[in-house]
Amino acid sequence: ATAQIGVTGLAVMGSNLARNFARHGHTVAVHNRTTARTTALIDEHGHEGTFVPAETPEEFVAALQKPRRLIIMVKAGDPTDAVIDEFAPLLDEGDMIIDGGNAHFLDTRRREKKLRELGIHFVGTGISGGEEGALNGPSIMPGGSAESYKSLGPLLESIAAKAPDGTPCCTHIGPDAAGHFVKMVHNGIEYADMQLIAEAYNLLRTVAGYEPDRIAEIFRGWNTGRLDSYLIEITAEVLAHTDAATGKPFVDVVADEAEQKGTGRWTVQTALDLGVPVSGIAEAVFARSVSGHTDLRRAARSLPGPGAEPLSADAAEAFAAQVEEALYASKVVSYAQGWNMISAASAEYGWDIDLGSTAAIWRGGCIIRAAFLDRIRTAFAADPALPTLLADKEFADEVGRAQDAWRAVVATAVRHGVPTPGFSAALAYYDALRAERLPAALTQGQRDFFGAHTYRRTDREGSFHTVWAGDRHEEAAG
Ligand code: 6PG
Repeated sequence: ATAQIGVTGLAVMGSNLARNFARHGHTVAVHNRTTARTTALIDEHGHEGTFVPAETPEEFVAALQKPRRLIIMVKAGDPTDAVIDEFAPLLDEGDMIIDGGNAHFLDTRRREKKLRELGIHFVGTGISGGEEGALNGPSIMPGGSAESYKSLGPLLESIAAKAPDGTPCCTHIGPDAAGHFVKMVHNGIEYADMQLIAEAYNLLRTVAGYEPDRIAEIFRGWNTGRLDSYLIEITAEVLAHTDAATGKPFVDVVADEAEQKGTGRWTVQTALDLGVPVSGIAEAVFARSVSGHTDLRRAARSLPGPGAEPLSADAAEAFAAQVEEALYASKVVSYAQGWNMISAASAEYGWDIDLGSTAAIWRGGCIIRAAFLDRIRTAFAADPALPTLLADKEFADEVGRAQDAWRAVVATAVRHGVPTPGFSAALAYYDALRAERLPAALTQGQRDFFGAHTYRRTDREGSFHTVWAGDRHEEAAG
């Protein structure tokens, strides 16, 4: 056995990951259910490093040095269980199965527990950066046992993206499903970022009256400032692209129905279960869903709108600057919500996740990579128990400075009838958190009225109920 690591499942992600290991000097065993893919990988890329092609699971396992490190890169869901069932009987105690797919973290918990009983380490690992990242350096989020990371960490770190300060974008996130959980939240934040960018584009297009190539220029400008990020960068590329067939802006010939594979939806479903408000991510998921409901959109097309005219050239320029502020402030809110979710799950499942390191490994390689993440890392380094990013002095000051523009943008959007669910929800969250009193007191009164659900008081300990149907005196409740 000569291979330090093995990859089974050689679709693009799997084969790019295998090539990345080989290019870093590791001997990589490669296997695929249909051998044609294995052969194709060796034919096309065999010269990039040392590969050990295996036709059968037995050959594959035999090619791996002990303790074996076997990465599975198959479609998340049943195929993952099938591959685990196929390989687990061939492994020995102390071997590691690394699942690099976008698995649901509850599946990872179940699999980890089952394999732990057999003495096998199951390492649910988030891998972000798409096909390009898998080949040239992804951000890697391994869960599983600390012991497995000792053996696996150096290998993963060698192929991971490097942050601007040179550190690898890979760290042990925490036990069992912590890695897949954090990857799920990464994707939720990715949805929120994309939605906020889409809203900014829509406002610049319809309210400021700018054409896509002009908006691409604006995004390029933003990309040199605090919004500097991969998603802003590619947005400019997409907006500047012209459709070859029609000569029109590419963005005008693409059907306006956003699809999703489901990780954003999982984030929101899980947040609901954990009781963590992630309104920015939720609005992003719902916005994709609304766009896809062509039946509803067709039925509602003739509903009246405000009919506001686009802004004058001067006003448009000022407005574009305000949109940058609204985008930035809303982004801070959705990251704050995402980190609240990681922190809540860490407490719930006993994962002990280092919140700052999570930001650190997203500085490079992943889809949401951005200069901004270094600031989040710093915020948690200064206060590991920071209750919300909005309480960090620097973020609080910046968002505070942006708030006038943020409000102006949301108000203008409303006046022009342009939907900005992301900007609006983020602003509502900001205002809710800073409010002295919330109308939740009234909600409690209503609940007590119709269902004797009781309430707590501001001036005394305990639970109370008012006898609404009778003389409305107050009773101490259970
Ligand atoms: C990544 C991406 C990746 C995937 C998205 C696409 O981190 O590399 O997040 O995992 O491309 O999840 O998601 P949707 O199809 O749901 O938009």
